[in-house]
Amino acid sequence: MPHPLQLQTTILRYDALPSTNTEAASQAARGAPEGLCVVAREQTRGRGRQERAWSSPPDAGLYFSIVLRPRLRPEAWPLVTLMAALAVRDALAAACALETDIKWPNDILSGGRKLCGILAETAETADGRACILGIGINLSDRAYPAELSDRATSVEAATGARADVERVLAALVGRLASRYAQLHAPAGDAEIIRDWSANSSYAEGKRVRVHAATEIFDGTTRGLEPDGALRVETATGEIRRVRAGDVHALRETLNDER
Ligand code: BTN
Repeated sequence: MPHPLQLQTTILRYDALPSTNTEAASQAARGAPEGLCVVAREQTRGRGRQERAWSSPPDAGLYFSIVLRPRLRPEAWPLVTLMAALAVRDALAAACALETDIKWPNDILSGGRKLCGILAETAETADGRACILGIGINLSDRAYPAELSDRATSVEAATGARADVERVLAALVGRLASRYAQLHAPAGDAEIIRDWSANSSYAEGKRVRVHAATEIFDGTTRGLEPDGALRVETATGEIRRVRAGDVHALRETLNDER
């Protein structure tokens, strides 16, 4: 019987960094082992998906990155982001008694509004390809700009209580270790797909608008492919497989983006 993978974590803390992902990537390039975590109280150039900025004012959010060196088939690497979303969901339930939804592929929502984003980047290092997994959790409403208040929320707003950053961090590191071990176990890919689908309202039967690289189309979600791609059925009955891009819920009545 193979040993379950045990992620050994070390946390480096900073008052301010341009981006915890950039710092974790440079540590990985210098040979940092899997499990190195970088946390900053503030980021001055926080990055989101698709080259967006991630607002990161002091002590308003958890700004966290971890170096991973997955032992997975290349087609299973996208599952790292799904496993991360599950770990965040698990951690918020455990640390803050907050139940959340997952929007494909890995945004964490409360009441339909985003409270956490995940940015997975790859870095070529002397020890092989690493994955730098960055997680930003809005702890208070100060974390995001006021103009996003119709689409964003925070742990504090969702629970009505101040979020303890150390408690959220400890829960996150622990849940990441267990979900990462699950992903590497035999049949781990299928288990992550199963658990993600059970915890996301986007997995099945959701009316969505897909913003793909070169087009926008509407459809209804029809589960995940084994590599984590989202199946979307269009009006003609065609099943499209979405591997990159953004997905937004459509309101049933107005057929308009939320
Ligand atoms: C998204 O666009 O939803 C992803 C946001 C990821 C933000 C986190 S905060 C910690 C880490 N460092 C960064 O610069 N980005 C990620």
